[in-house]
This record gives sequence, C-alpha cells and structure tokens, in this order.
Amino acid sequence: MKQKLIVFEGIDGSGKTSLVQKITEELNKLNFKVKNFFEPTKYEHGLKIREFLQNKISLSKNEQIQLFLKDRKDSISKNIQPNLDSEFHIILDRYFYSMAAYQSDESFSSEKIIQLNLDEKFLLPDFVFYLEIDPKIALSRTAKRGESEFFENLDELTRVANEYKKILPKNTIYVDAEKSSEEVLEFCFKKLILLLS
Ligand code: TYD
Repeated sequence: MKQKLIVFEGIDGSGKTSLVQKITEELNKLNFKVKNFFEPTKYEHGLKIREFLQNKISLSKNEQIQLFLKDRKDSISKNIQPNLDSEFHIILDRYFYSMAAYQSDESFSSEKIIQLNLDEKFLLPDFVFYLEIDPKIALSRTAKRGESEFFENLDELTRVANEYKKILPKNTIYVDAEKSSEEVLEFCFKKLILLLS
C-alpha cells in the first residue's frame, strides 16, 4: 500500500503541534509506521525563518516566499521523501497552504502562491486536516504560552484564517479545534485509522 502524506494546517494557537505529536505516538502504539515533521524545518533556511518569526531579522514579503520555498525543498528532500521511501506515513505540521495563507497580500493572492508551489512540483498531500478556531481564542492560547511571534496578532490571524478558506482543497477534513485537546485528538485519531487502514 502506498504511504500517505498527511498535512495539518491551522492558524497559530490552533493546537496543531502538540496534536500532531500525540497522534503520531498513538498511531505508533497501534503499529502504524508513522513519523511527523514540521515546516519551517530545523535546517539552514528554516533557522533563518525562525529568526524572522522571532522579530530578530526583517524580511520583505518576497524574501519570505523565497526562503519558505527553499526550506520546503529541504523538508521534502531530507525529511519527507526518504521516509516515504522507507515506508513511513508522514504527518506534516504545516505545508504550502500555510505559505498561501500567511504570505498572501493585496499584490500576491493566496491562489497565486498555491500555483507557485505547484509549479515547483512539490508532492501533493493525500489528506489535509484543518484545525478551525476563532482567532481570538487562538491568540489567547499563544499569549498564555508567552509567545509573540511575527504573525501573532488578531488582525493578521483573522486575515490568515480567511485566506485558508479560499485555498484549502475541497476534500479537506475540518476539525473543531475549540473542543478539548482530548476530543480533538480522538476525532483526528479515529479518522486517521480509517484513512490508513
Ligand atoms: P508554527 O507551526 O506556529 O510553529 P511554532 O508552533 O513552533 O511557533 O509555525 C511558525 C510560523 O511560520 C507560523 O506563524 C506560520 C509561519 N509560516 C509561514 O508564514 N509560511 C509558511 O510557508 C509556513 C510553513 C509557516
């Protein structure tokens, strides 16, 4: 059976990162061969992106796009493809839908950014999960963690959530991320068992 690429998307504070880790652990317990990775990565370009996100350096919109594209090439060639080849399913915390939602603006639409990624012939995911949450609630969660990254303000997260709605694939699995972390985990876990069996 072909190994699957499963992408989780959502605005900052939607709970993706801990969810992706827990789901991977639970699936491994059931003997599914699964690994999880995230973008931006921990490689060269990903580390530069992290500096930008922490407001340590500034980058123009175009520089952001170029850097995220380079990082995505590393993500695929170093993390995703070798592990798919070794028969692991991959669960990915953010992919090019993030770029479309976050880097879009009046002069560069989210649809055009999707096309840019398709032109790169990046792998297409088998399944996309989107964690839906009111940006106000998401922001209160990131504030509790004491984080304040580049995109973490209400106007920006509201804009990003609206852009996601325009570009997510038709068969995206929408998840109510305002529920408790246990309920969200159970919902996604059950879906994935069906999809991977
Ligand atoms: P995030 O998943 O929030 O990482 P962490 O939980 O470790 O802070 O992702 C970091 C940020 O990167 C997030 O604000 C969205 C942004 N991002 C983009 O702007 N474009 C992209 O293409 C990707 C993958 C992420």
